Amino acid sequence: MILLHKAEALKPVVDELRKQGKRIGFVPTMGALHQGHLSLLHHAIAQNDFNIVSIFVNPTQFNNPDDLKKYPRMLEIDQELLSQAGCDAVFVPDVEEIYPEGELTEKFDFKGLERQMEGRFRPGHFDGVGTVVKRLFEIVKPDNAYFGEKDFQQLRIIQQLVENQKLKVNIVPVPIKREEDGLAMSSRNLLLSPEMRKEAPVIFEILNAAKDFFIEHSAAETKKFVENLFEQSLLQLEYFEIADEETLQTVEDRNCCIHIRAFVAAFADDIRLIDNLRFQ
Ligand code: PAJ
Repeated sequence: MILLHKAEALKPVVDELRKQGKRIGFVPTMGALHQGHLSLLHHAIAQNDFNIVSIFVNPTQFNNPDDLKKYPRMLEIDQELLSQAGCDAVFVPDVEEIYPEGELTEKFDFKGLERQMEGRFRPGHFDGVGTVVKRLFEIVKPDNAYFGEKDFQQLRIIQQLVENQKLKVNIVPVPIKREEDGLAMSSRNLLLSPEMRKEAPVIFEILNAAKDFFIEHSAAETKKFVENLFEQSLLQLEYFEIADEETLQTVEDRNCCIHIRAFVAAFADDIRLIDNLRFQ
C-alpha cells in the first residue's frame, strides 16, 4: 500500500492507471476507521482494480469547533487496518492541500436535500461536505466512489452533487454496519463514556419499535411515540423524521413515495449520534 500526502504525487499514479484502463475505486473518510469504513473498502475491492482511501478531517463541515477538535485521529492504526484489508493507496492530504486559498466553501444547490434534518441542525455542513468531496473527486478521478447509508442524507447529497456537476463517477451506496448490540458503527462511538456506550443501542431499538408502530399508525403518531421513548432513555433526542428517501421531505402519507426511511439524531451527553432505518 502506498501512502501519499500530495495531490501532485497521486496524479501520475492515477494517470497511469487510467492509461492502462484500470478501474479506480475510492472511499473518502475522516479516519478513526472501523468495520463500517472497511465494509466500504471491501465493496470497492470487489468492484475495482485499484482502490484509494482518503483520510482527511475536513474542517469546513464541522459547524462546531469543539467537535472538530475532539474528532479522533489515529493515522498509524488506520494505515495498518487499510493495508491489512487490501487497500492499494491511502491519500492523507493536509488542510493547505485541499484548501490552498483558505478554508472557503462553495455554496451548492442540492434541490432542497440540504435543508432537511442534518442541514437544519448543522448549518453549512453540506456545503463543506460538497466542497471537499468535489475536490477529492478532482484529485482521485475515481470510476466508483463508496458512501455509507449511515449518513444517508450525505449519500443523497453526493448523488445530487454528481448530477449537478455532471461528474463521471458512479456512486455506490453501502448498508450500515452495526455493533452486535445494534449501535451503528461510528468514529464518534470512541468518545462515549462507558455508561453512554451501554445506553446508545437504544437508538436502534427505538427505530425498530417505531418501524413496527408505523405499520398501524400515522407519521405524526409515530413521532410522538418515539419522542416518548427517548424521554425514558438517557439520550437527548434532537430530531426524529420519517422521510421520502428520494426527496428527504417529511412524510405525512405513507402512499407518498416508494421508499420511506426514518432518521434520528440524538445526544449522548455531548456526543451527537445519528442513525436511520428503512421503514418501507
Ligand atoms: P466518515 O464519517 O469518516 O465516513 C466515511 C464513510 O464511511 C461515509 O460514507 C460514511 O457514511 C461511511 N460510514 C461510516 N460509518 C458507517 C457504518 N457504520 N456503516 C456503513 N458506512 C459507514 O462521512 C464522512 O466521513 C465525511 O463526511 C466525508 C464523506 C469523508 C467528507 O469529508
